[in-house]
Amino acid sequence: MTVDYMRFLSSRSNWIEKSLLADIMKKASDLRKSGKKLIFLSAGDPDPNLIPREELARIAMEVLSNEPRSVLYTPVNGIPELREELSKFLRRYDGIDVPPDNIIITVGGTGAIDLLGRVLIDPGDIIITENPSYINTLLAFRQLGARIIGAPMDDKGLIPEKVEEIINRAEEEGKKVKLIYTIPTGQNPMGVTMSESRRRELLDIACDYNLLIMEDMAYNYLIYEDINVRTLKSLDREGRVISVGTLSKVLGTGFRVGWIIAEDVILQKVLMEKQPIDFCAPAISQFIALEYLRNGLFERYHIKVALPAYRRKRDALIRALEENLPDLRFTRPVAGMFSMLSLPEDVDGVKFAERLMTSQGVVVVPGAPFYTDNTGLNTIRLNFSRPSVEEIENGIKMLSEYLRKLSL
Ligand SMILES: Cc1ncc(COP(=O)(O)O)c(C=O)c1O
Repeated sequence: MTVDYMRFLSSRSNWIEKSLLADIMKKASDLRKSGKKLIFLSAGDPDPNLIPREELARIAMEVLSNEPRSVLYTPVNGIPELREELSKFLRRYDGIDVPPDNIIITVGGTGAIDLLGRVLIDPGDIIITENPSYINTLLAFRQLGARIIGAPMDDKGLIPEKVEEIINRAEEEGKKVKLIYTIPTGQNPMGVTMSESRRRELLDIACDYNLLIMEDMAYNYLIYEDINVRTLKSLDREGRVISVGTLSKVLGTGFRVGWIIAEDVILQKVLMEKQPIDFCAPAISQFIALEYLRNGLFERYHIKVALPAYRRKRDALIRALEENLPDLRFTRPVAGMFSMLSLPEDVDGVKFAERLMTSQGVVVVPGAPFYTDNTGLNTIRLNFSRPSVEEIENGIKMLSEYLRKLSL
């Protein structure tokens, strides 16, 4: 008898959305297997050549040889030494004063966001995000039944008055917004950074309307200009901000080390959610992350070597866009890994991305899935961290030639 698996699926899994991005990455991987040379201007990965892999290999060897705990379960909230080291790191780089006990190590920032969603969101809850926003947050929150309303941004990030308008509109309908999710620095996918005055205004709104803010700090360690903006958490006087962070963008996305900073009531609930999901973040990754921070590799390598190289790549992308596509709009990131490009109004970003990949071998990500309201149909997100400067230059040139061919 053949099994009809559809009968067994939960009703929740039946309405989980298919991931357009996963489709594109699968097609890219199939193309690569078939021998096609590809230029990746797509995923939010760091450049593997800007990760101190040899030093990490030495650390991994030492940890595996000398630390028996590196092959065992760790406490659900992570190894104490890493939480202590992170507490110091967060004070130094994010201005956040948090004791190690208020940090939970998670399976990347993605795991942190999902756990917080599970603890905070009931079906029907209204959550405000930037429009567009990080796709995995949108997926995770939607899977929990959240109603997501996107608020617009400009080049100074999320616009607080627009957030307030959404809150008031919801109140007029007798509903209350619960949470604002924001990526203030190096926003994904827009690449914009929120000014400090807006951060303060957003916090005031959270206090005035009794809301929580979830601050996603994924790109806090990829800042290319002297912008000196403070984290929301460091400005927070009432405990309104729950922060999530990750080492993915500096240590490598493969390690899966992220964290949550929150008050005890929330943390206790997160731990209860977390235990049956993954028990703990990978022990070996936690010990490597510990040594990475403790040995000063972050300063010695990331700040001194990798960051200037990423800045050069950012510059190369902006230059290539200015030279090849002077009539189009794109964002100019001061932080993060992305610029968002608006194609001519009549170009469908999803189809464009697919065809650009199959015909030119340039992989970009359509912007539409990041939008909360079916807009952004003509946008594509460009990543500059993973490709080389040469790949960026060639990729943008090929993209612009392809676009010109389309409009002939
Ligand atoms: C805004 C944002 N938050 C969180 C993450 C999580 O990354 P990870 O799960 O690798 O830590 C990403 C990764 O792209 C991101 O862009």
